[in-house]
Amino acid sequence: MSEQVGFLTMGATAEAAGPVPTIGIGMLGYAFMGKAHSNAFRTIPYMIRPLAAMPRMVALCGRNREAVTAAATRFGYEKVYLDWREMLKDDSIQLFDNGGPNNVHAEPTIAAAEAGKHVLCEKPLGRTAKESKQMLDAVRKAGVKHMCAFNYRFVPAVRQAKALLERGALGRIYHFRARYLQEWGNSPDVAQWRYHADTAGSGALGDLGAHIIDMARFLIGEPTEVSALTATFITERDDPGGAGRKHVDVDDAFEAIVRFANGAVGTLEATRFAPGRKNHNCFEINGELGSISFDLEDMNHLEVHLPGLDDKDVQGFRKVLVSESIHPFWQHWWPQGHIIGWEHTFIHEVNHLLEAIVGNHDVAPYGADFVDGYRNAVICDAIIESAREGRRVAIRYED
Ligand SMILES: NC(=O)c1ccc[n+]([C@@H]2O[C@H](COP(=O)([O-])OP(=O)(O)OC[C@H]3O[C@@H](n4cnc5c(N)ncnc54)[C@H](O)[C@@H]3O)[C@@H](O)[C@H]2O)c1
Repeated sequence: MSEQVGFLTMGATAEAAGPVPTIGIGMLGYAFMGKAHSNAFRTIPYMIRPLAAMPRMVALCGRNREAVTAAATRFGYEKVYLDWREMLKDDSIQLFDNGGPNNVHAEPTIAAAEAGKHVLCEKPLGRTAKESKQMLDAVRKAGVKHMCAFNYRFVPAVRQAKALLERGALGRIYHFRARYLQEWGNSPDVAQWRYHADTAGSGALGDLGAHIIDMARFLIGEPTEVSALTATFITERDDPGGAGRKHVDVDDAFEAIVRFANGAVGTLEATRFAPGRKNHNCFEINGELGSISFDLEDMNHLEVHLPGLDDKDVQGFRKVLVSESIHPFWQHWWPQGHIIGWEHTFIHEVNHLLEAIVGNHDVAPYGADFVDGYRNAVICDAIIESAREGRRVAIRYED
């Protein structure tokens, strides 16, 4: 009994800064990303200190009443909607979170902004640069906070790489090379919205490539030109809607070379046809003072080669376990070495957005906003154009 009293006192002390605002969440989609984002909203009040906002999980939207009700019960939402238009009328929702497929990004997200709700939209922002620009224009006009869910900015090791680059630890940057390899496309039996331009926009490019394009922009800066190839290895699959066979009109893989405004050059590559590669999202950066390297499949480590900091006889790459209390995001977690996982990136990401809403500051530059989503789509379009026309394409933004 005395232990219980002690616990309550500690709890009261921990929140001594006073009550935090509540932000009502309306989530579209309850499969892969809907589940990952919902897990983040649930975990934030438990783990994040100081807590900027208490997420209130108001509603989950899906099209099948039975399935969405089951998911809402499991994730902890108060109610369900079968139509996002109805959900956007709900005054208890202040943040609309879009975890739908790419063809369900623009219309609901624009409508949510027009209804005055802050918006979080999964990547790629739109299916094309044009669609993404419409989304950017809408959030700017509405004056709401906007985030595009490039969650790998929220890996502690990636943020540590960013910190090293910001303080010039690598000096002048020469190379950025990134690969995002998965294996699941290498089966003719897989049928998904991801294989068709009407639902996905592009293929491995927007799905996986968008992530490494975001890494390139986040860590190195703006690219000025690209030259690319795309390939589609399996050209017909089952229609995910059950309407027989359907032509695959998106890329299964792409290879691109890139020049950056700061003079660096790089390569970007993504495929769903790399047997044995589960989620091989990696990059390496080479600069005049050293190199850094990251692989999501070993996400708590950053490999560094900084000869200026090491003794001459212990040079070469070494693996740094990015889990000290001084490392990014680690104030929320465990004693050093008690590592975290992929789902934690979404917790950091969503919390960053809640802080921006409550503090009324921008999601950028550390979070990706709709400017980043739009620019990413411009680069994706340029890669497709370059591959189609067999020439180098300049990157030009109109934002
Ligand atoms: N950040 C990441 O690491 C990451 C990983 C995977 C997917 N994604 C992105 O997340 C988005 C969703 O991908 P996913 O893998 O979760 O897809 P999914 O197919 O697993 O889930 C899509 C969800 O949207 C729902 N939905 C579809 N149309 C709808 C509509 N009209 N109204 C309401 N609900 C609707 C489906 O029922 C489902 O719950 C995509 O844009 C994808 O590119 C991002």
